[in-house]
Amino acid sequence: MCGIIGYVGQKQVKSILINGLKRLEYRGYDSAGIAVLAQGEICTMKCVGKVAELAAKAQTHFPYASTIGIGHTRWATHGNVSEKNAHPHLSDGNYFAVVHNGIVENYLQIKAFLLEKRYHFYSDTDTEILANLIDYHYRKAMQCSFGEIVRKSLLHVEGTYGLAVLSSIFPDEIIVARKSSPLLIGLGYGENIIASDAAAVARYTQRVVYLNDEEIASIRSDNFLVTTLREGVVDTVCHNLDLEVRDADLAGYPYYMLKEIFEQPSSIENAMRGRFTEDNSSSKFGGLSLAPQELRSVKRLLFCACGTAYYACLAGKYLIEKYARIPVDVEYASEFRYRNAPFQSDTLVFVVSQSGETIDTLAALYEAKRKGYTVMGITNVVGSTIARTTDAGIYQHAGLEMGVASTKAFTSQLTILSMLALLFARQRDMDSFTGQQYACALKSLPAAINEVLQSSKQIRHIAEKYCNQKHFLFLGRQVMYPIALEGALKLKEIAYVHAEAFPTAEMKHGPIALISEQSLCIFVATQRELLEKTVNNIQEVKARGGKVVAIINDKKYIWEELCDEVIRIPEVHGGVNPIVSAIPLQFLAYYIGVTLGCDVDRPRNLAKSVTVE
Ligand code: AGP
Ligand code: GLU
Repeated sequence: MCGIIGYVGQKQVKSILINGLKRLEYRGYDSAGIAVLAQGEICTMKCVGKVAELAAKAQTHFPYASTIGIGHTRWATHGNVSEKNAHPHLSDGNYFAVVHNGIVENYLQIKAFLLEKRYHFYSDTDTEILANLIDYHYRKAMQCSFGEIVRKSLLHVEGTYGLAVLSSIFPDEIIVARKSSPLLIGLGYGENIIASDAAAVARYTQRVVYLNDEEIASIRSDNFLVTTLREGVVDTVCHNLDLEVRDADLAGYPYYMLKEIFEQPSSIENAMRGRFTEDNSSSKFGGLSLAPQELRSVKRLLFCACGTAYYACLAGKYLIEKYARIPVDVEYASEFRYRNAPFQSDTLVFVVSQSGETIDTLAALYEAKRKGYTVMGITNVVGSTIARTTDAGIYQHAGLEMGVASTKAFTSQLTILSMLALLFARQRDMDSFTGQQYACALKSLPAAINEVLQSSKQIRHIAEKYCNQKHFLFLGRQVMYPIALEGALKLKEIAYVHAEAFPTAEMKHGPIALISEQSLCIFVATQRELLEKTVNNIQEVKARGGKVVAIINDKKYIWEELCDEVIRIPEVHGGVNPIVSAIPLQFLAYYIGVTLGCDVDRPRNLAKSVTVE
């Protein structure tokens, strides 16, 4: 969850670490810290709160010149948010400093062992034991190399880690290791930079090596060596990042979330680029690597994902079942991994993850593979663990998503799922003319979204007017139900208000008890079918004093008379309708969050990618 950065080279390391941490802050942001080696000693600085505070403190209180160091932004798992629990953690005697992402599951046993050996502990974290464990192994075998000491230590560690270790005894080297938490090495000339996330290295180099699970690497300014925890040397592959540095900038927007909402016409365009057949009646994905016969023999699809990606899959289920007539199951990856779901042959599994690093989704992937399924990935981050572990897959090409609350990644997932619906449909019963209409609708999406983006001001006013309501209920039928679920999740995440979503007609089976003047119901009423029924449901809310916002594209009813607020969006093909309908809900959550004074890019308790269980 946290961000890790480290540098060894010729440049002054302080600003490299701080800038890297700023790029990584979206991964965890309750506290931050750095450690550098200056005049043979490890010097650290930590701070509770944002990286900006660490940066300010470092400017005046951290005068050390150094060209090697490590840094960390924390997302606490063990021990509260405090300066003493912030990383880096030092060993007794200050010879080793460790930053860590993950959880050491057997830390209590190791701590008891080290206490017996008279080591002292100053924090409540699981991480601190790593620093002392490394020190213990150093003292046990002083002739060993730095990498060997860390390797021996990690053989005793259960749990997950991405970690970086700095030592005053080995002043030219940083050791990094990984088990389930991402780490990569950015290769420079006369310098190398390590990070948990490509966003932090892109401004220095585009050449990276991804560590795999149970690999450990020794990094110096002019070389690096990767071995496995069991000692075999690893032949590394260098990847090209192809990540634009400006993706990580705010470009004049107050928040990444707003920037990313506005980027959707182009992120969706990128998701579709080069992915239509020549006759424009179907879609194609170079990465799917299944022959048409194999795709046709698929009898069932299973999607596993978490959070927003799960809701995208749920919407995908409606589209694929409607247009391609293939049964689709959607499972929370966090549930699937622990449940012994019956294996059905001819099922194709997709795991969907923006970051490609979500540990639950990764575990679901392993479980599905263990059972013999072919597993495809839909991910945004090129080179991410899920992208590298699936049998094949589809990249979203949405660009770097920095906002913790996912927006453009959600709509690009929806776009790809809609294109999959078209692909599977055309292999079955859909004729070429109907396919062309569908493809044409997909191609018109950026224009339709541009139109919706024009309503941002109107939605801001609605947000300002209703931000103090006590309950927010999001209602949608069929494929709009997952869109409503995503709208409620967005609002909860960034504005910390009570929000729930229901299939519209389910409201009367219970949630209607919540309706009062204090509640705002947001109806996603953009499907022509069942509109009359939705109008009845709106009347039911109004009759009980509730306030209603309706997102509509219909011209038949006088919606202004029925509802308190009406957001009009363009009428589009059913296969892309959920994508267009999702945008007003993103604005609503964003503006309510901003109006309530929330830091929407760094919502409390959250982190961009969840790499712990
Ligand atoms: C999105 O707004 C959330 N922060 C969260 O639900 C997220 O979608 C979930 O953790 C899955 O992440 P992934 O797509 O990177 O796997
Ligand atoms: N488990 C460690 C801690 O609580 C690391 C958490 C993280 O990944 O930021 O400090």
